[in-house]
Amino acid sequence: MTPEQIRHSLLSWYDAHARDLPWRTGPAAGQGGVRSDPYRVWLSEVMLQQTTVPHAAPYFLKFTARWPTVSDLAAAPDDEVMAAWAGLGYYARARNLLACARAVANEHGGVFPDTEAALRALPGLGPYTAAAVAAIAFDEATNVVDGNVERVMARLFAVETPLPAAKPELKALAAALVRDERPGDWAQALMDLGATVCRPRSPLCDRCPLTGACAGLATGAPETYPRKSAKAVRPRRHGVAYILTRGEAVALVRRPPKGLLGGMLGLPTSDWRAAPWSDEEARADAPVQARWRSAGEVEHVFTHFSLTLRLLRAEGEAEGVIWTARRDIEALPSVFLKAVRAGLSNLL
Ligand code: ADE
Repeated sequence: MTPEQIRHSLLSWYDAHARDLPWRTGPAAGQGGVRSDPYRVWLSEVMLQQTTVPHAAPYFLKFTARWPTVSDLAAAPDDEVMAAWAGLGYYARARNLLACARAVANEHGGVFPDTEAALRALPGLGPYTAAAVAAIAFDEATNVVDGNVERVMARLFAVETPLPAAKPELKALAAALVRDERPGDWAQALMDLGATVCRPRSPLCDRCPLTGACAGLATGAPETYPRKSAKAVRPRRHGVAYILTRGEAVALVRRPPKGLLGGMLGLPTSDWRAAPWSDEEARADAPVQARWRSAGEVEHVFTHFSLTLRLLRAEGEAEGVIWTARRDIEALPSVFLKAVRAGLSNLL
């Protein structure tokens, strides 16, 4: 297949199979060329860098109901935005999100710049997001490359170079298929194909519009692309989380502004270190004296390490903590929500 045939096949497939997502206005062909709102496109793209479509969708709906425009979001107190972001992970993204919203509101009159280059100049808006917003909201012929697109290219062209070294090559292959025609649909068609057909494991090649062009399929093992370098193992850290209760309330602390989960509320914890914590060490490190009892442990996977948190629980008093009703803990970062839920449900 020529590049033109590949484009035609994939765009036709998208016209018939585009996912119906809350930030989409649908394939341009079926919508009389209705443009997507750049605020909604930008917000969805930032969320989707963090998580999957099914997980991001309720957050997207919550954010846009509460803050319908970028100026509304820019005017929101930091705390409220961080709390609404809780569960999406990686809170630096939420801070960048606010910095960007405020720049658009204060320096651009609440109107998103309409080119990739000008978008890229906004604080906290990276190359992927600039390309995606320019293509989807402004129909600029940018090259939008995320993990889905890399996988599709690696298979379509049977690229033998392993990731991450293959990234520039995959990007160049993707660039060679971009045209001025329907750039936003093209980007989203590639992403949808990657998410629903050219899936990481068990691709559904019998539903793919590009089988006639796919060098990966011709090898007989398309699922083995993209090649990967030997995996770096995720290091494991160990910590102790202290669940201090006073009736229905749980003691929380505000984490330091810098670093992982910076500025978020959380349970008091020990250091997170390479060695597991013994029972004695865990008790010795407790924030207050109390009758600490073991309440199990939880695992959480962060981008750069896995964490095993031992849980200790006690009823007691403490100074300088934020007593929070159990029903209000939903806004905690996932790791702490998981710890509170597990710690309070385990029998002592
Ligand atoms: N993943 C990231 N952005 C996306 C989009 N706009 N459509 C589908 N999947 C995506």
